[in-house]
Amino acid sequence: MPAFQVNIRPSRPASEAQRASIKKSLYSDDYPSSVSCMRKFGSLNVMVSKIGLGTWMIEKDPSGSIRALRAGLDLGLNHIDTAEMYGSGEAERLVAKAINGRRESVFLASKVLPSNASFADTIRACEQTLSRLGTDHLDLYLLHWRETIALEETFGAFEKLRMQGKIRAFGVSNFDVKDLEEAWKLSPEIACNQVLYHLKERAIEKSVFPWCVEHNIPVVAYSPFGAGDFPDKTRGPGKAFVALVKKLGATPRQLALSFLTRHPLLFAIPKSSSVTHVKENAAAEMLEISQTDIAAIDEMFPVQEKSSLPML
Ligand SMILES: NC(=O)c1ccc[n+]([C@@H]2O[C@H](COP(=O)([O-])OP(=O)(O)OC[C@H]3O[C@@H](n4cnc5c(N)ncnc54)[C@H](OP(=O)(O)O)[C@@H]3O)[C@@H](O)[C@H]2O)c1
Repeated sequence: MPAFQVNIRPSRPASEAQRASIKKSLYSDDYPSSVSCMRKFGSLNVMVSKIGLGTWMIEKDPSGSIRALRAGLDLGLNHIDTAEMYGSGEAERLVAKAINGRRESVFLASKVLPSNASFADTIRACEQTLSRLGTDHLDLYLLHWRETIALEETFGAFEKLRMQGKIRAFGVSNFDVKDLEEAWKLSPEIACNQVLYHLKERAIEKSVFPWCVEHNIPVVAYSPFGAGDFPDKTRGPGKAFVALVKKLGATPRQLALSFLTRHPLLFAIPKSSSVTHVKENAAAEMLEISQTDIAAIDEMFPVQEKSSLPML
């Protein structure tokens, strides 16, 4: 049995008119209330594609990555996830090039390192991130993971940045339930929790995801393809998975993305520096999977109990 009740909404691509409306501005009032491939991001008044664009290690192929990010945006994948950590700022510089001239249609997220999470350093880190990204605001700013600096400091800085208009919303990453409880007490407005979630790593379904559903907090799945550890189609559960993939006329990664985003509060941010791969991943927005398919995948890749929240 799935570890949580799923609520499947059929995913069909947005019409041209809907896409045009979405591209006009992220926060415009005349938004369509529901576009099937776009979802409301929890309590934020913004529509975000369930499949986004990761940027870890994009600096290894700068021109390919810029092309891939632009192709993703063209296809309506409006959520770009980056971080000051990635390539020591180089990923943010590349994102700036990819979004040049189209900032208003992008839901742009970045992250502050825990070593920069004091009040003053968070403000400074955000300003440097904005400068590298060539923008005056982020849509979402996350604490990358938690270390020893008190959350009050980081959240105090997030609030100040929000009041200054430098960020629209803030959230957390790699937070277990205990951390989420503490964060929630400080600010019930935390906009998301970004966590490790892929077919072979479903530990969040035990308690983190149910907690987030209860609090209407989106969960953004990072490393949705296992960061290089995608199931091998020649053995183990990968074999049965490929049989299901064939039945559905999809590709393995499309089925994985569809499964990982099967709840309205689930989003995924695969990284790709290849236009072909981005097109393949984007098409997962159109893939409809049934409760029977979900149950089958659930058996192939069962949820494992973990003593602490897995992270990369
Ligand atoms: N918050 C955190 O602590 C945290 C940690 C890790 C990652 N993240 C975020 O999550 C994003 C995604 O995670 P990730 O980069 O670790 O790994 P991932 O998205 O699970 O996997 C990326 C790998 O999959 C390949 N790939 C993508 N689409 C493919 C396709 N259709 N067919 C075949 N291969 C494909 C990519 O190669 P190509 O480039 O050649 O397509 C790349 O090697 C990161 O980029 C980052 O933004 C956050």
